[in-house]
Amino acid sequence: MPAPTLAAPDGRVVDYLRISITDRCNERCLYCMPEGYKGWQSRADTLTDDEIVRVARLAAGLGFRKFRVTGGEPLVRKGVVDIIGRIWELPGVEMIGLSTNGIMLEKLAAPMRQAGLTGVNVSLDALDPTIYHRVTGGDVSRVLAGIEAARAAGFERIKLNCVLMRGVNEQEIWPLVEYAAARSCPMRFIELMPLTRRDVLNESNFFPIAEMMEILRAHDELTPVEKEKEQIGNGPARYYRLKHTGALVGVIGALTEACFCERCNKMRVTADGKLRPCLGDALEFDLLPALRGGSDEDVIAVFQNALARKPLAHGFRDVYQPARPMTAIGG
Ligand code: 5AD
Ligand code: SF4
Repeated sequence: MPAPTLAAPDGRVVDYLRISITDRCNERCLYCMPEGYKGWQSRADTLTDDEIVRVARLAAGLGFRKFRVTGGEPLVRKGVVDIIGRIWELPGVEMIGLSTNGIMLEKLAAPMRQAGLTGVNVSLDALDPTIYHRVTGGDVSRVLAGIEAARAAGFERIKLNCVLMRGVNEQEIWPLVEYAAARSCPMRFIELMPLTRRDVLNESNFFPIAEMMEILRAHDELTPVEKEKEQIGNGPARYYRLKHTGALVGVIGALTEACFCERCNKMRVTADGKLRPCLGDALEFDLLPALRGGSDEDVIAVFQNALARKPLAHGFRDVYQPARPMTAIGG
């Protein structure tokens, strides 16, 4: 029987599920984690390995095709390799990716590849060790070693992500493009979204995609990429090819692009078992009662409910006040 196609009421096809397996992290990025965040101390990762796999199995049955394991930092959860392997084996799963800060990637890249992981997205906000440390509190050399391990492990795609912040990492934009181009990795630049405390994410450190593009244009010629889109993953990112460096640059203009949400194909599951139809909307649906006391049909009903209420657009431009920081949603 052909797999069903899942669509939101407005027609957007939703076939991509991001599952956060922990809200813990071994870094503390300015844009993600409020200072002193200790959410996990009061709330252990709620979903068990079996529950995560069950959610993925039912989602795949509903029509989700692409899965991504996220955090927090997913590699700090014991059993991450096993979770990946079990999701990959489910019927209907065509892609399984992972988003990581790269700190623990050096050891885990090869076993995860073996378990079936198709791609990794690695956060890389700067190459300069001081700037990197200022943004994340971490050591960039470990991330770079992790990226090399991922390349050696033979992933189909390794994407690098940089969140743009004025006065913090704008001078890193071009070095990051050159670094990514030399390794044939797509480099993606992301506009800062209001996902942690307001005072950290104010107008003065917002750096728009348009300004980033000017920096790229000062170095090279840009051509929008259309056909390759399928291979790069469809979603809100748009891609450009740089003529001379050969770089593939993705832009995620969540705040300044008017029709950004029209390309949204995803939903999220948090580590404590909430289904979120939109990153930028507080709306969430609790999977736990259905997972713990109910049948498969009850879990599926929660998915259908969430899909029916998928917001047309995020609320970032209004007075969005995150009820959860990014680390507890799943980047
Ligand atoms: N704004 C934009 N992107 C963010 N990410 C995390 N927090 C934010 C934010 N406030 C992105 C990072 C990371 C991914 C998991 O989520 O790029 O790579
Ligand atoms: Fe950790 Fe990733 Fe959040 Fe940074 S963005 S604090 S690495 S979860």
